[in-house]
Amino acid sequence: MSWNQAVVAIQNRTQLVPTVGVVLGSGLGAFASELEDAVEIPYDQIPGWPVSTAIGHAGKLVIGKIGDTVVAVQAGRAHLYEGYNMAQVTFAVRVLGKLGVKSLLLTNAAGGINKEYQQGALVLISDHINLQGANPLLGPNDDSLGPRFPDMSEAYSRDYRAIAKQAAREMGTSLAEGVYAALSGPNYETPAEIRYLRTIGADLVGMSTVPEVLVARHMGIRCLAISCVTNMAAGILDQEINHEEVLEIGAKVRGTLVELLKRVIPRLG
Ligand code: HPA
Repeated sequence: MSWNQAVVAIQNRTQLVPTVGVVLGSGLGAFASELEDAVEIPYDQIPGWPVSTAIGHAGKLVIGKIGDTVVAVQAGRAHLYEGYNMAQVTFAVRVLGKLGVKSLLLTNAAGGINKEYQQGALVLISDHINLQGANPLLGPNDDSLGPRFPDMSEAYSRDYRAIAKQAAREMGTSLAEGVYAALSGPNYETPAEIRYLRTIGADLVGMSTVPEVLVARHMGIRCLAISCVTNMAAGILDQEINHEEVLEIGAKVRGTLVELLKRVIPRLG
């Protein structure tokens, strides 16, 4: 893969060397405008970078600072359901890793399977179940990136979760934790699928994040992931799920999420 061309293209646009990467999910793109000394690079200006087609995703890389921390923010990500393959879905994370990123903070919109959650809640992902039927690490292993059989026993850093909980406490709020099940989409699940996912231990369901975390962990990058429960999963409430609602709830939590990220990022050492 041509990560190096992408790395060089980005390095030609900024002297800043990011140590923290951020991936913003559907309707959660507001954080990108918070960076200082920011350079914005549209995805179509980075060789090999997939252009996000999902509504609610901007499609630019923003590199800038939060305090003293240099951050690379992906406003918009590529998903399997858009027709991208796993190499394309994870291309950006590998480029960020090659640029020097050591910590990755991901956000996503998710359906709440756990009935304790409220619509609009922010939930820390404690672990995941990969049900996408694919894996970005399949195929010959690139030993320069990481080992053939990477460990996933702490895919979502315990320390980072503690940092996020502390930051939430300072804001007078709290964060629950939950297990995220990733499906390919693009359809929302059936009520039977949600009952199945609950039975196997999932609290949240979505269509992203897991591929990026797999390649990040492969490269030794530590991960923190935050889901916004944009809707209760199928069959829990007697109502349909639609993408407009997902975006609307994303917009409602914007302020809280932006503040949380601003507090957390400088502490991800
Ligand atoms: N299911 C899958 N993905 C989602 C959902 C959902 O209910 N809500 C937001 N993303």
